[in-house]
Amino acid sequence: MFSYKQLGLVNTKEMFKNAMKGKYAVGAFNFNNMEQLQAIITACLETQAPVILQVSKGARKYADQTLLRYMGQGAVEMMKVHAKEKGLKEIPIALHLDHGDSFEVCKSCVDSGFSSVMIDGSHLSYEENVKVTKQVVEYAHKYDVTVEGELGVLAGIEEHVSSDHTTYTKPEEVQDFVGKTGVDSLAISIGTSHGANKFKPEQCTKNKDGVLVPPPLRFDILEGVEKMLPGFPIVLHGSSSVPVEAVKMINDNGGKLKDSIGIPEDQLRKAATSAVCKVNIDSDGRLWMTAAIRKYFNEKPADFDPRKYLEPARTALIEMYKHKNVNVLGSAGKI
Ligand code: G3H
Ligand code: 13P
Ligand code: ZN
Repeated sequence: MFSYKQLGLVNTKEMFKNAMKGKYAVGAFNFNNMEQLQAIITACLETQAPVILQVSKGARKYADQTLLRYMGQGAVEMMKVHAKEKGLKEIPIALHLDHGDSFEVCKSCVDSGFSSVMIDGSHLSYEENVKVTKQVVEYAHKYDVTVEGELGVLAGIEEHVSSDHTTYTKPEEVQDFVGKTGVDSLAISIGTSHGANKFKPEQCTKNKDGVLVPPPLRFDILEGVEKMLPGFPIVLHGSSSVPVEAVKMINDNGGKLKDSIGIPEDQLRKAATSAVCKVNIDSDGRLWMTAAIRKYFNEKPADFDPRKYLEPARTALIEMYKHKNVNVLGSAGKI
C-alpha cells in the first residue's frame, strides 16, 4: 500500500473548493509518456496553476500502472526543483484515475498511490451505478482519496464503451446520486463527447471565417444541476476544442483527419466560471503532438533520433496547456 501523501501528491478536495470560490476550473490532462508529462508540469508550473494528471485505462495498459505512479512522483519532484530554480511557487498536483470501470481497478489505483479516482458507472443502470460508486467511495475515503462519479452518457467512445448518442444528465437524479454514494465530484453530460469528432458537420453552422460552429452546450442542464447541488464540484469530460490550426498542420503534412470538430473555447470559458471545477482534455494534446511530429518529419525526413522530433512536440504541448490555463480554464495564478 502506497499513500499518495508519501509521493507529494494531493487529492482534489482543496483544489475544487478553491476553483468553486474563484470561478475557474482545474485542467485534468491525460498523459501516457514522459514528454506529455513534462509538458503538463512545465506549463502548469510556469502559469502557476493547480493540475490533475490523468491516467486512463489505455494509459495504464500502455505505460504500466507502477511506472505511472513513479512518473507521478517524479513529476512532483521535478516540479519542486524547477520551482526553486525559477523562483516560482510549488503547484498542487493530483494523480487521478480516468474512467475507472470497476471497484477492483479503483482499489488498485488507491493502493498504488493515486490521490483521486473516477468510477464511471454511467453505462450501468442507475441502481448499479449507485452501488459500485458507493463501494468505491467507502474504500477510497478510508485513505483520503477523492472520488468522481458520472451520471449521463457522453456520445462517442468512453474507453471500451461507445455510444452513438448523448444521454443528458437528469438534474432530478443528481441529489439522490450524490447523497446515496458520497462522491466528491460528479461528471455530467451536457453535450460534450470524447475524441476529435464531437459533432457532424451537418449539426454545425458556419461562422464568418468559414469555421464550423457546433450547437451550444446544454447550459440549462448545468444550471439545473447547480440548483439541485449548490456548491458541489461538477466535471466536464470530452472538453477538447480540436483547434483548426492543429488539424490543418496534420493534414498539410500528410495526415487525413476528417470532420474534426470540438467544443468552442468560449463555451468552456463560460462553463469554467460555473460549478464546473474540472475540465478533461486529452485529444487536443494528441492533435498538437501529432501535428508537430508530422511537420518535423515532412521537413527533415532523414532524421531518426526520437529526441529531435519529440522536442518540438513537447514544445507545442507546453504552449497548448499554458493557453488552456490562461485563456480557457482561468486556472493560471490560482495556487
Ligand atoms: O476518456 C478517454 C481518454 O481520452 C483516454 O483515452 O483510453 O485512449 O487513453 P485512452
Ligand atoms: P477529449 O477527448 O475531448 O480530450 O476528452 C478527454 C476526456 O474526457 C478524458 O476523460
Ligand atoms: Zn472522459
